[in-house]
Amino acid sequence: MKIIQDLQEMTAWSKEQTVAGKTIGFVPTMGCFHEGHLALMRQAGELAGQVVVSLFVNPTQFGPQEDLAAYPRDFARDQELAASVGVDVIFAPEPEDMYPAGCNTTVTVGKELTGQLCGASRPGHFAGVATVVSKLFNIVRPDLAVFGEKDFQQLAVIRRMTEDLNLGVEIIGHPIIREQDGLAMSSRNAYLQEAERETALSLSRALAMARTMAADGELHAESLTATLQKFILSFSGTELDYISFVDQASLQPVVEIDKDTVLALAVKINGRVRLIDNGFVAGGEK
Ligand code: PAJ
Repeated sequence: MKIIQDLQEMTAWSKEQTVAGKTIGFVPTMGCFHEGHLALMRQAGELAGQVVVSLFVNPTQFGPQEDLAAYPRDFARDQELAASVGVDVIFAPEPEDMYPAGCNTTVTVGKELTGQLCGASRPGHFAGVATVVSKLFNIVRPDLAVFGEKDFQQLAVIRRMTEDLNLGVEIIGHPIIREQDGLAMSSRNAYLQEAERETALSLSRALAMARTMAADGELHAESLTATLQKFILSFSGTELDYISFVDQASLQPVVEIDKDTVLALAVKINGRVRLIDNGFVAGGEK
């Protein structure tokens, strides 16, 4: 497995692969790998001849009060894990090379997709994500890129951006990978203290509860929301960021839920750890 830091070297490597007739599958990450990341890398390997994983904690997608400095980093461990699933290249650029002095262009996706859910509580976040992902696509030049459905709004934003800017990269969504007890895997789970681990289950349990209620015939988003809100707040230390039933493609709120409705949740635990989860609730595939 190669480690590349230099942007031009990365592009040159990709061009060589393309000339040799190999396809490139790409998995953008911020590191601190868990099974969720590794599943994306395995899928990229099944779909493409070469797999590139970028490891870059992107400063422009963190708000001023967010955890950029504290974000967990362990390059040696990440390197081992990526090699164990057959990754060909880790691309790990330096922030000053990605954002040199004078850099002054931002990619923003319209507010229909970015104004609600995580976009409402994290202003500027999706502009940071769209900008870095479009830069990474231009540097790595992949044929396809794999993103997790865990960051469901991010996936929708990247699909829109890729189509609107004719980036020519096939975007693949990968289902959420969970711990045995249902907690969606996340690098931020490392922030959870032991007692908070139980509280973190409020999200996946709320999803299960919504599915049961929907199967029992409760399809009205407002009444489902009220019940789920009470349920989540019954766990100690929870604070709701949002709980929303939205259409999977438009991300707009729905009145009655159906097979295209996704329940999206964001919960803050003890004012410190913000976790998200989502899933179909009425006969969908998730
Ligand atoms: P990061 O949080 O490191 O996630 C990298 C990729 O792993 C994303 O596509 C994310 O959706 C996916 N992922 C994380 N947890 C997952 C899980 N439990 N199951 C399945 N997939 C999971 O998302 C980012 O980084 C950044 O915003 C990035 C796209 C790299 C841009 O900086």
